[in-house]
Amino acid sequence: MTIEKTFSIVKPDAVKRNLIGAIYQRFENAGLKIVASKMVHLDATKAQGFYAEHEEKPFFNELVEFMTSGPVMVQVLEGENAIYSYRELMGKTNPEDAACGTIRSDFALSMRYNSVHGSDSPESAAREIAYFFTEDEICPRD
Ligand code: TYD
Ligand code: MG
Repeated sequence: MTIEKTFSIVKPDAVKRNLIGAIYQRFENAGLKIVASKMVHLDATKAQGFYAEHEEKPFFNELVEFMTSGPVMVQVLEGENAIYSYRELMGKTNPEDAACGTIRSDFALSMRYNSVHGSDSPESAAREIAYFFTEDEICPRD
């Protein structure tokens, strides 16, 4: 049993459709506690740095354009095996491939407008949390 922290974004398509509360409810129902949270409107530099691993991909520019198109919610989630369990809760990148009952299956509009981000490994979780939050913005929970 490992308590982990993972990093999550509610993306612009979901914020625009007023789905923040519905998506936060999914986190809490799954036993993922919100230990830090804020709304931010990314600029291109911040979004490019966040998605640096995809710099060479054909979808990179459109991804950055989408992620800067409106405000997002960024949050740190904590729970048992949080990194893997949140990836399972999100569902596959393309909502057409995402299992029933996952966030992307229920809310995503397309592969690009796919409502949520989640870290894919302990290394990316550490990098992504530190990219958005200082230590003192993360609150211990029982
Ligand atoms: P990726 O890290 O592969 O997916 P995930 O978010 O599931 O970890 O890709 C990052 C984001 O890039 C993805 O959420 C949506 C976008 N994307 C596209 O727009 N087109 C694509 O073909 C892929 C693979 C991703
Ligand atoms: Mg990814």
